[in-house]
Amino acid sequence: SQPIAIGLTEESEAAQRVKIGGYFAIWWSLNVVFNIYNKKVLNAFPYPWLTSTLSLAVGSAIMLVSWGARIAEAPKVAVAHTIGHVAATVSMSKVAVSFTHIIKSGEPAFSVLVSRFLLGESFPASVYLSLLPIIGGCALSAVTELNFNMIGFMGAMISNLAFVFRNIFSKKGMKGMAVSGMNYYACLSILSLLILTPFAIAVEGPQMWAAGWQTALSQIGPNFIWWVVAQSVFYHLYNQVSYMSLDQISPLTFSIGNTMKRISVIVSSIIIFHTPVQPINALGAAIAILGTFLYSQVESFHPFNSANMIHRKPTMV
Ligand code: 3PG
Repeated sequence: SQPIAIGLTEESEAAQRVKIGGYFAIWWSLNVVFNIYNKKVLNAFPYPWLTSTLSLAVGSAIMLVSWGARIAEAPKVAVAHTIGHVAATVSMSKVAVSFTHIIKSGEPAFSVLVSRFLLGESFPASVYLSLLPIIGGCALSAVTELNFNMIGFMGAMISNLAFVFRNIFSKKGMKGMAVSGMNYYACLSILSLLILTPFAIAVEGPQMWAAGWQTALSQIGPNFIWWVVAQSVFYHLYNQVSYMSLDQISPLTFSIGNTMKRISVIVSSIIIFHTPVQPINALGAAIAILGTFLYSQVESFHPFNSANMIHRKPTMV
């Protein structure tokens, strides 16, 4: 009844005030200590650029340890982006680029399954039916792949799942915020770097990297450095643009667009790397991609359907 509701509101408002009061007290105390030590350091060591950098680096390290020790929850979106990226890259290190992307063309199916079973959304029967060619086509391609490798296959599957979560969390994160897709992706990229670095050092490490770098340089020559620069720069640029589009469309439409994109990746990589393809293998890829096309034609999920344009922001920063 009303009195109880008012009582509860008053209580929670009082608790909220105490909490904010506590935050202010801690904020001010910590800030006093910071200012004193900051100045002591600057008096003895007048390098403000380095000390500013150190404060941020230590802050990042503190958060990394807090996330690792589960004292604080790591931003889910960055964890999902990190897992999806590493899993896809591990996959591509084991199998042909075309194979990774054929399996990744199943992403819309993951999108529907996650939305259905984890978020409780329901879809018309036609959506579920259109998943059959997607899943069947991917399966046909996988079983007829000449150089099938389980790590390569699982990497692409894990990447599918992780990126569906990444897209859903990103969409929620961007909703109503005056942050553009470009800047949202920039923050995601920096956070993922933080999360990934200790794992990369633990799994591979500087010794392995130095030896591998020497081998690659001796086999390929100085051009190898440009390849590394290109893969890194283009990775950022294409993702940045993809986020500029995710900002305007639903995660589901994003997955469909992403699968359509794979046709060009699959065809160009087969030509450039002279990947041997069996007709039945290519048929599987074609069926999967056709399935995604059919899926995109289901009226309520059409990329330009207004229901898919979850929100528009008034301002972009
Ligand atoms: C990655 O490394 O993140 C993947 O290659 C990207 O997958 P995408 O094609 O879904 O962006």
